[in-house]
Amino acid sequence: MPYKSATQRKPGVVVKTGPKKYAIIHNSISLYSMSDSVNKNAALTNRQLFFRHVAQTSPEPIGLEIARAEGIYQFDKTGKKYVDLISGFSVCNIGHSHPEVIEAVKRQSQAYMHLIVYGEFIESPQVQYAKLLVDHLPTSLNTVYFTNSGTEATEGAMKLAKRVTGRPHIICFNNSYHGSTQGALSLMGSEYWRNAFRPLLPGISHFDYNSADAIEAIDETTACVILETVQAENGIIKPSKEWIQALHKRCKEQKALLVLDEIQAGFARTGTLWAFEQFNIVPDILLLGKALGGGMPLGAFIACQQLMQTLAADPVLGHISTFAGHPVSCAAGKAAFEVLLENLTRYEIAQKETILKTHLQHSLIKEVRTAGMWAAIEFESFELNKKIIRMCLDRGIITDWFLFAPECMRVAPPLSITGAELISVCQEIIIAMNEVFAEKAT
Ligand SMILES: Cc1ncc(COP(=O)(O)O)c(C=O)c1O
Repeated sequence: MPYKSATQRKPGVVVKTGPKKYAIIHNSISLYSMSDSVNKNAALTNRQLFFRHVAQTSPEPIGLEIARAEGIYQFDKTGKKYVDLISGFSVCNIGHSHPEVIEAVKRQSQAYMHLIVYGEFIESPQVQYAKLLVDHLPTSLNTVYFTNSGTEATEGAMKLAKRVTGRPHIICFNNSYHGSTQGALSLMGSEYWRNAFRPLLPGISHFDYNSADAIEAIDETTACVILETVQAENGIIKPSKEWIQALHKRCKEQKALLVLDEIQAGFARTGTLWAFEQFNIVPDILLLGKALGGGMPLGAFIACQQLMQTLAADPVLGHISTFAGHPVSCAAGKAAFEVLLENLTRYEIAQKETILKTHLQHSLIKEVRTAGMWAAIEFESFELNKKIIRMCLDRGIITDWFLFAPECMRVAPPLSITGAELISVCQEIIIAMNEVFAEKAT
């Protein structure tokens, strides 16, 4: 028996929908009894079901319906081909559906998937991936705590810093993004995104990236300073070498931990395997995610064993997770990392950065900032950027804007894109700009 139609009710009102069943009526979504809902859904397209039953993160999702992805391309269900110019937000650095990653996923899922909570059994994919990672990191970063996501890596690092130092304060930066869970959100470098979710974690201070104030603020109460080695969502902003080195030095002097977030910047996105290599510093804790899992969900915070072991005692099980370091994610991540290591020089990132700089020139562009295979193309406004992004999408190029720099277009192709492909995609972007320019002129 269907209940009263939602249109007869006010949005946001709690109503009784049947015995012991209550629901909040949201906007114009109707409520039906379970069987009515099943019947209605049978006739709906995936697009309709997406808007009806999948929680939305914005009023304007990109809304492509992708059937498959391979290399630098994604193909929608009509067969239309798109160049993925954002690599699933810096995840698919070696391209989509790499055969070695697929093989690793198959092999591991046939052997075993979930066995037990993280940290109890010796799971070969986890152990082998941890070993491979630390073999390619400075010796002090020798112990990996795997997580399910980037934001959980941030949470783990914050806890570790507090546990190790016994101090209450954390210093972080305006226009930085470290994740969306409550602790990581407290670090979020914008009041606009923080404010609705108060109360946030106490003891957190925000400073301008590259500012002397931040360095001066580090004192004997500071547990850690957490920053992106290159700010991603601020539209590719690099630290000055002097500043980040001074920050590092002050952390050492005050015995505060330096946490570098390379969840987006890691895995050769900026041209070196780790972005911090370019500044001759080594963090106390490194955050990884995104490309770490080779397309599967995986994050990690990495530190020296002496620090990391504090999470195992007093209290025991100080940081635990059911699925962290999932064996299939670790197997996929390790395979992807091996492919990346094998191809690092072949990817010719420096040459391709030059291509981006030389081929992305147009009167609509205010500035192009790059860090390896990563660029922010700055326009005069968000409105203009959105039009160009939409035009690019029509022309078969997937791109997007940045959270704190909405007037900037994101360019972060798979590192495996060839020079010729990159030139051609830059030309397509210029054509898209010409079309928007022509529209603007009329
Ligand atoms: C720099 C940075 N840190 C942390 C995160 C959070 O990662 P996740 O979305 O996997 O939780 C992101 C995600 O975009 C990020 O870009």
